[in-house]
Amino acid sequence: MRVMHALRWWPSLLKDLVLKPRYDPVRFWERRHAAGHTFWTVGRRAFDETGNEEWYGRLADDLRAAFSRDQLDLKTLSVYEIGAGIGYWTRLVCDLGCRKYEGTDLAGSAVAWLRSQFSSYSFEVRDAATDSIPGLWDVILMMHVDEHVHGERFTGMLRHVKAAMTPTSRFFTTYAPVAKPSGLTYVEYHTREDFARVFPDAWIRQVPQPNRGDPMLAISAAYGTGR
Ligand SMILES: C[S@@+](CC[C@H](N)C(=O)[O-])C[C@H]1O[C@@H](n2cnc3c(N)ncnc32)[C@H](O)[C@@H]1O
Repeated sequence: MRVMHALRWWPSLLKDLVLKPRYDPVRFWERRHAAGHTFWTVGRRAFDETGNEEWYGRLADDLRAAFSRDQLDLKTLSVYEIGAGIGYWTRLVCDLGCRKYEGTDLAGSAVAWLRSQFSSYSFEVRDAATDSIPGLWDVILMMHVDEHVHGERFTGMLRHVKAAMTPTSRFFTTYAPVAKPSGLTYVEYHTREDFARVFPDAWIRQVPQPNRGDPMLAISAAYGTGR
């Protein structure tokens, strides 16, 4: 199985590193989602499906711990998700009893599939960089989307998130702890400083990683006021 995965992974990586295809977000993600709805679509391609399950699981455990630390009971809160992908985080939120959820993704094929999987939730095709978020939300989730929204589009996306937050909302997002170049045209890392261009620094906290999940920030005006 590992050999099969390596035979799939290396040619795909080499093609991206050598040919450096121009990153057109809609075309890129439509193509990926139209091909399937597995971790190969949205996860870390260096890992096989089992490796991704484990890698996602660690971040999920850290996120659940962060909800509990902040006393966020999802049964009573609304959740908006940017880049819902194959619905991994939708499932987590659903399992925590959330009743008001809206998921969005740039790719229509992702949204069509998500609608078929979660009939009680709402999903919309939206480009988070250009489309504003309707309404105000208690929790906003954006996992592994940050590195795929580049330049001014990234700042635009954060402005939309900020506009959808109340004084007690929480925005959870993955990020890069240190600035680093990426050899892939579809990846541009964003550090805490990039988030601090839109959010006051006092709002931004690094989420503890007791389960060694990927680095994550929690952003809230409540942190700025000590709540
Ligand atoms: C790496 S995948 C992560 C998916 C999911 N959040 C997860 O962690 O499994 C990135 C997702 O973000 C979506 N996406 C990329 N750019 C976006 C944008 N500007 N607005 C909304 N969704 C976007 C892609 O279609 C894809 O589903």
